[in-house]
Amino acid sequence: NTNVWKVDKYVDKLESNPHIVDAAHFLRENEVVALPTETVYGLGGNAENDEAVTKIFAAKGRPADNPLIIHIADKVQLDRFVKEVPEKAKNLIDAFWPGPLTIIFNKKEGVLSEKATAGLSTVAVRMPDHPVALALFRECGLPIAAPSANSSGKPSPTTADHVVDDLNGKIAGVLDAGPTGVGVESTVVDCTEEIPVILRPGGVTKEQLEEVVGEVRVDPALTNTEGDARPKAPGMKYRHYAPNAPLYLVSGTREFLQRLVDEKRQEGLRVGVLTTEEHSPEFAADVVLACGRRAELETVAAALYDTLRKFNQVDVDVIFSEMFPTSGVGLAIMNRLQKAAGNKIISE
Ligand code: TXA
Ligand code: MG
Repeated sequence: NTNVWKVDKYVDKLESNPHIVDAAHFLRENEVVALPTETVYGLGGNAENDEAVTKIFAAKGRPADNPLIIHIADKVQLDRFVKEVPEKAKNLIDAFWPGPLTIIFNKKEGVLSEKATAGLSTVAVRMPDHPVALALFRECGLPIAAPSANSSGKPSPTTADHVVDDLNGKIAGVLDAGPTGVGVESTVVDCTEEIPVILRPGGVTKEQLEEVVGEVRVDPALTNTEGDARPKAPGMKYRHYAPNAPLYLVSGTREFLQRLVDEKRQEGLRVGVLTTEEHSPEFAADVVLACGRRAELETVAAALYDTLRKFNQVDVDVIFSEMFPTSGVGLAIMNRLQKAAGNKIISE
């Protein structure tokens, strides 16, 4: 069974914390352990070792063509495996690290496991804003490859329980520091081109990036869901996050959504509704789950994956979800919901 190591990030002395020392020991032995970050839990392994990286892919059931993010605790670690740090990347690092921003650089060959970068000439790097993650990375002294610690295709884990639900017995342990804060993954921004390109919307918003570096583009493949445009982040081409029951996003009034619910229930189906605290009292369905507060989209992001996972613990045949504005962290929320729904949208 997988060890669950509880660490109180506010109370425990983190350097020399025995659980963190144990976890670092496993990492140096090229075993894999799950760790908290400010976005979601990650599944960490030594990024310079093929064996460790192979274990990450195996535990998750992750396709080998989907590269991992390399996590560091200190900017000086970049030099070891990154070819150059362009000016705009420097400014983004100064503004957002540690934090939910992953930057794509050109890679120095021969340092990292080729499997970690899926053989690409670029590498994704981030410094998470979580005291337990940073203490662990310092303790083991290695760059740590860490995808989200879910089974491939499931919603990313925002609690240690989610990690255990997916990976129990498949990994050495999980450092449990309670629920993560941001709730959606880091923003992935490609800085190998003159104008930075968002490959995955996430915890740092497009608006925040633009304040620092001016114009920022969004990979057109992310919004063009019909066409055959290939996303530049290999991971963005996979269906993801989907609950077991089919999920439909509903564009229109709440009355319209309720009518869809009523129709399905008349057919004898059990119906779920994904809404927010403001609107949940208005819906009559078999299961109504409130995902944060619409007035503060950060709370929706924080609750999103737990809510999607909860729909698998209740008995529903179909789920209808409200939609969200795409400003701020709403861009990441809608991106994940569209993936969870397989782009099924019903418009009034
Ligand atoms: O918040 C996060 O970023 C979490 C925590 C654990 O740090 N990690 C995470 O990793 O979400 P993962 O593996 O689930 O997602 C990494 C994404 C994938 O879409 C992958 O294709 C993309 O980053 N990626 C990694 N390296 C890349 C590269 N060199 N070029 C383009 N995309 C890359
Ligand atoms: Mg993931």
